[in-house]
Amino acid sequence: MAEAAGDAGLGPAAAPEGAELAAVIGATVPTGFEQTAAEEVQEKLGSASRISRDRGKIYFEVPARSLPQVHRLRSVDNLFVVVQEFKDYQFKENKEDALKDLEDLVKKLSWTDPLKVWELNNSLKKKKTKRKKHNLQSPASREKLSDGGEEGGADQNNTNDQEDCAQNPVAVEPTSGQETENPQGVTSRNGVEEEEENEQSDVKVEVQASSECGTKAGDGQTSEGEAKVLRFRVTCNRAGDKHSFTSNEAARDFGGAVQEHFQWKADMTNFDVEVLLNIHNNEVVVGIALTEESLHRRNITHFGPTTLRSTLAYGMLRLCDPQPTDIIVDPMCGTGAIPIEGAAEWPYCYHIAGDNNPQAVKRAANNVCSLLRKNESKDSSSALGVPLDIVQWDICNLPLRTGSVDIVVTDMPFGKRIGSKKKNWDLYPACLMEMGRICTPGTGRAVLLTQDKKCFAKALSRVGHIWRRAQTVWVNVGGLHAAVYLLRRTWERAEERRPFW
Ligand SMILES: C[S@@+](CC[C@H](N)C(=O)[O-])C[C@H]1O[C@@H](n2cnc3c(N)ncnc32)[C@H](O)[C@@H]1O
Repeated sequence: MAEAAGDAGLGPAAAPEGAELAAVIGATVPTGFEQTAAEEVQEKLGSASRISRDRGKIYFEVPARSLPQVHRLRSVDNLFVVVQEFKDYQFKENKEDALKDLEDLVKKLSWTDPLKVWELNNSLKKKKTKRKKHNLQSPASREKLSDGGEEGGADQNNTNDQEDCAQNPVAVEPTSGQETENPQGVTSRNGVEEEEENEQSDVKVEVQASSECGTKAGDGQTSEGEAKVLRFRVTCNRAGDKHSFTSNEAARDFGGAVQEHFQWKADMTNFDVEVLLNIHNNEVVVGIALTEESLHRRNITHFGPTTLRSTLAYGMLRLCDPQPTDIIVDPMCGTGAIPIEGAAEWPYCYHIAGDNNPQAVKRAANNVCSLLRKNESKDSSSALGVPLDIVQWDICNLPLRTGSVDIVVTDMPFGKRIGSKKKNWDLYPACLMEMGRICTPGTGRAVLLTQDKKCFAKALSRVGHIWRRAQTVWVNVGGLHAAVYLLRRTWERAEERRPFW
């Protein structure tokens, strides 16, 4: 490790000849659900995870052959293979010196095994998508999706006041109004998650120039058998107020050194390799991205104004520990992110979802159809259908029998983009009453997401006889500090608004 860092780098030791290739995987997860993600990794891969001090990330080690299972994790947004990690990197105070150290770091890192893992990952992707020859997977598609969609774009980033994010190289130009920190044409974007109330702060970036430097490229062969020149970009996520440099400057200088070291070609949008430089105070992690598009988009094709990330939906569902045959209801389902994730991951439960907005119901139904089509093309056994019904209804008057539901999981209107804070004062107590009525006394549970915490606390205090708060998970939703509440149904009888139910 660079003397400047004053710390031994932690990274996977190069595998001895013949030994099985292992990978330290870094995964970005919804902030607040790090523990849930760690539990999923333990359960499905048998590996212990370390939760990063920089919230919203976990790290775990697996044999490289487990990569397909890693990609099937439900709680992770983006995956990368760790090249090296420095827990106590000593940044020089002087900007030029600090940047020079980062530049020098490139040639001291152990790239060999992480690049093998990246290659293996590429071959898996190629198999999966049956991509044509030449196509060494350009992650540029992620850019496109992040720009246009109503959700996403937080891919490798956590929201943090002090955080900024930049891609490296050469000359990049913003295409929409966006603060740029660097006069030399490098564009920054702040990593802000979007869902409700998102500030769309991504910018499209376009490469104006990239130096030509012919190079051999791992396994990248053209059809003529010539070595293909790999295209790359560096993305720097930085959080902390003690750095003398910006993320743009770090990405630019680190990227320059990567280009020189590997003789790769810098390309911001059409790249094969995305090198990640994550700096969080004095923690530095260098990685190589293994996902192009955040995995949270997996289920949704028809987005709405407040579509929830599938990864967050998974975390919420997991919190209430669904058991086979449980009846799970999302009474305000919007585009259906929660019930669709539920039906995909807990197919032995029966899922019912509804919304009072016909447009939302239509979108949710379209998302279910897309999922069915996807399943059909995968294999016939999963094409039988999804255990999910979608209904138009009003949460205050649900057409469900008293005590008939095991679990309610929903993402409530925050009162900003959907509804209003004023309306929430009536809606929230009515919701809690009706949810209390349909849930089985004694065993029923509810997992509810809201940013309108004051209103929720007041509403809950009014129905304390039927709901007991068991746990609160603080999450970051679209840059907003929100809460996920796990409530347990007491044995108390709920008030019957309509005696015939
Ligand atoms: C935060 S959004 C849910 C977003 C959803 N999780 C998704 O992934 O698209 C809240 C939803 O509550 C619905 N809603 C508001 N008032 C309702 C009511 N009285 N009954 C049923 N749904 C209602 C809205 O139409 C909206 O779709």
